[in-house]
Amino acid sequence: MDLFEHQAKELFAEYGIPVPRGIVAHTAEEARAAAEQLTGRVVVKAQVKTGGRGKAGGVKVADDAADAEQKAGQILGMDIKGHTVHKVLIEEASDIAEEYYFSFLLDRANRTFLAICSASGGMDIEEVAHTAPEKVAKVPVSPLTGVDLARAREIAKAGGLPERSLDGAAALIEKIWAVFVDEDASLVEVNPLILAADGQVKALDGKVTLDENAEFRQKEHVAYVDKAAEDPLEARAKEKNLNYVKLDGNVGIIGNGAGLVMSTLDVVAYAGESVPGKPKPANFLDIGGGASAEVMANGLEIILSDPAVTSVFVNVFGGITACDAVANGIVSAFKLLGERGETVTRPLVVRLDGNNAALGREILQSAGLPGVELVDTMDEAAKRAAELAAVGA
Ligand SMILES: Nc1ncnc2c1ncn2[C@@H]1O[C@H](COP(=O)(O)OP(=O)(O)OP(=O)(O)O)[C@@H](O)[C@H]1O
Ligand SMILES: [Mg+2]
Repeated sequence: MDLFEHQAKELFAEYGIPVPRGIVAHTAEEARAAAEQLTGRVVVKAQVKTGGRGKAGGVKVADDAADAEQKAGQILGMDIKGHTVHKVLIEEASDIAEEYYFSFLLDRANRTFLAICSASGGMDIEEVAHTAPEKVAKVPVSPLTGVDLARAREIAKAGGLPERSLDGAAALIEKIWAVFVDEDASLVEVNPLILAADGQVKALDGKVTLDENAEFRQKEHVAYVDKAAEDPLEARAKEKNLNYVKLDGNVGIIGNGAGLVMSTLDVVAYAGESVPGKPKPANFLDIGGGASAEVMANGLEIILSDPAVTSVFVNVFGGITACDAVANGIVSAFKLLGERGETVTRPLVVRLDGNNAALGREILQSAGLPGVELVDTMDEAAKRAAELAAVGA
């Protein structure tokens, strides 16, 4: 989960990392009031979860409160790389002497953490990394030893930071490491990390990605969930512990095992190519290994509450949970949904293979569920689901 810049900075402040004073505003009037409170020159910054805001015109300096109101008016509602700006951060303008780059991240390829540091920070860091990679230090960090003040200083030095910035940068880097570890982040980036004219080293921007797998021990992180940006179906699926991702086609997909579901998406998209209207998968849904009737019912319910869905493809490879159990799950799911007043009216193509496949098919056949078709192979089933989706569209 990514944080907004203002959230990242609030978190930084809790750890004692110097950040400019700032106030979030949702309207131009609020921006004016915020600027009045901060006094002096301020910076109006679009709060969207993407980089390159400055280059897109989403970061503007304002001389006074009236100017802040006007600039906020320009920035609010703006589209930056597909993200609409709903709020801005009004921040006291810093007097910048130098801009550096700093981040901690998880280096999956090398199975370690990595510190990246450069004296050539700012909005062109990607360009620097490309044309002058020697100016960007990449220092592996062992999770066993971590980063103390001395190590932080070494990293800053490796990044080419000048002597006058080293103390301030080292103190800041040590605290960023604390944020990274204590908050279970997979990325903490500060670009720019600045040396201000008064000699202070500060974080002028903040990008933080929190590891959602750590939710169980990071109870306060739920406060960061952006309810407005969440897809309502995905939110409901999450409440029911389903691995569901909304996509924009019409063929609802249910499978067991993430790998099988991923390939089902491919096969359906491919089959859809030769069908009128080119139907595509409507979602990803992995019901996992032990697919009980209830899980099947919850999965079907989520998929069928997507009005775009005109057919459903249930693709199951029986393993530890054998096909007869899955078939019984589908039968009970139909009953359960009927009881909930959500009778299944859209066609369902079912492919069962693997452990006890024959028995599973028999169960479904004798249940005679309306709209349910059994197809033997994955390719044929995908084709049929795509055809049915086109008919229903
Ligand atoms: N509080 C501030 N005071 C003065 N200048 C600022 C302030 N905040 C940002 N800036 C200037 O605006 C530039 C862009 O800001 P920032 O890095 O926050 O946005 P960004 O474009 O999203 O960054 P990135 O390219 O890292 O995604 C900074 O490099 C800095 O020069
Ligand atoms: Mg930045």
